[in-house]
Amino acid sequence: MNDLLYVNGGNPLEGTITVRGAKNFVSKAMVASLLGETPSVLRNVPQIRDVGVVSGLLELHGVNVKYDTDAGILDLDPSNVESAHMADIDAHAGSSRIPILFCGPLLHRLGEAFIPDLGGCRIGDRPINYHLEILRKFGAEVDKRPNGIHLRAPRRLQGTKFRLEYPSVGSTEQLLLTAVRAEGITELSNAAIEPEIMDLIAVLQKMGAIISVDTDRVIRIEGVDRLEGFNHTALADRIEAASWASAALATGGDVTIKGATQPEMMTFLNTFRKVGGQFDVQDDGIRFWHPGGDLRSIVLETDVHPGFMTDWQQPLVVALTQATGLSIVHETVYENRFGFTDALRQMGATIQVYKECLGGGDCRFGQRNFHHSAVVSGPTPLAAADIEVPDLRGGFSHLIAALAAKGTSTVRGISLIDRGYESFQDKLVALGADVSRD
Ligand code: EPU
Repeated sequence: MNDLLYVNGGNPLEGTITVRGAKNFVSKAMVASLLGETPSVLRNVPQIRDVGVVSGLLELHGVNVKYDTDAGILDLDPSNVESAHMADIDAHAGSSRIPILFCGPLLHRLGEAFIPDLGGCRIGDRPINYHLEILRKFGAEVDKRPNGIHLRAPRRLQGTKFRLEYPSVGSTEQLLLTAVRAEGITELSNAAIEPEIMDLIAVLQKMGAIISVDTDRVIRIEGVDRLEGFNHTALADRIEAASWASAALATGGDVTIKGATQPEMMTFLNTFRKVGGQFDVQDDGIRFWHPGGDLRSIVLETDVHPGFMTDWQQPLVVALTQATGLSIVHETVYENRFGFTDALRQMGATIQVYKECLGGGDCRFGQRNFHHSAVVSGPTPLAAADIEVPDLRGGFSHLIAALAAKGTSTVRGISLIDRGYESFQDKLVALGADVSRD
């Protein structure tokens, strides 16, 4: 199949779609199953490529994985966990960043782990220094080699105290997945508290872990000797939901998203309303629509939870090209998340990127050479173009731009979007979009 999609845009998206479990939770819960002595069941699992990659990695380590795609149910049996061959892991990890989270569980179960060079979206440097520091603090021996990282636990990992310089999501998960079976108490300060992390904590508690979350970003874990399997329904994908909501706004449409939930999306909903979009929270989802008339420009800063998610930024920026006036967007989570605006400019958007911290406080990227602020001037009609998907969220933003633009765009590298958006082409068709492959 050709890796491109023709999008004949200029029509509003209208209709109803469903979002299932969050990509950035499901993959972590799958890793958590490795910590249990008995099988786990995960529900509401979307059929996306990241689930396939993590399933494959679990299977390489002896976990028996059964996935009922229609029902969205994953059965994970870790009774026979074993070391996998390095070459297999390397070949299988593909573009995912999840392998790094296998460290703690494998060190507990096998006393060793191998992590290949990590992939993931190119939206910044994406170092793993916090992860490795955390593992060393627990007592793991970390050996960096050209093909990846080898880890060993010469004895049972020991609880520890750690303060994150920045509330990193993955590093908080690393610490949780390691601390639950380490000996003694672990305390993490400046932890990330994203809803996906809270759901991971819920899973670990079901497994038998003892974890408390204080109001000031402090998480305390009392290590236990044994964990059981879990039975859990994944929280909804709030990034996917916000992406479709932004598509509704940018195309002047009206989209009901079944499965979307309000508490995890509050900050997005506030911003959506400020821009001029309307929404209605229903029992089983949220309806988002463009009420007609002008959209309003805004000042926006991305941040860790409970701030405005970095992953919501790229789709919303496309809608901001249709708002009247100057919008200012300050990206404070990743230093390099405006690359996708090149294609928008090619399509007629007026967006300038700056190295300065605009529109908010100073961030880690100020006074350095990162183009991490953007000024969007609108409204500008968008014209069809031939564009290439740069990364997962940037790619979906390109898709939104193509849907909003008059004429037929060619969007290349479209399979990257399968990593995190379940059946997106079917959903586009269900919303009346005119899309086709060769
Ligand atoms: N960081 C470090 N050192 C580390 C780890 C992180 O400096 O050892 C920095 C990063 O470079 C970045 C910041 O900390 O500037 C935040 O990174 P974080 O660790 O929070 O991100 P992550 O765990 O790698 C997850 C999601 C991302 C999402 C971010 C922020 C997954 C698989 N990925 O990444 O999702 O943007 O949290 O919420 O959960 C996506 O879904 O498209 C995506 C990129």
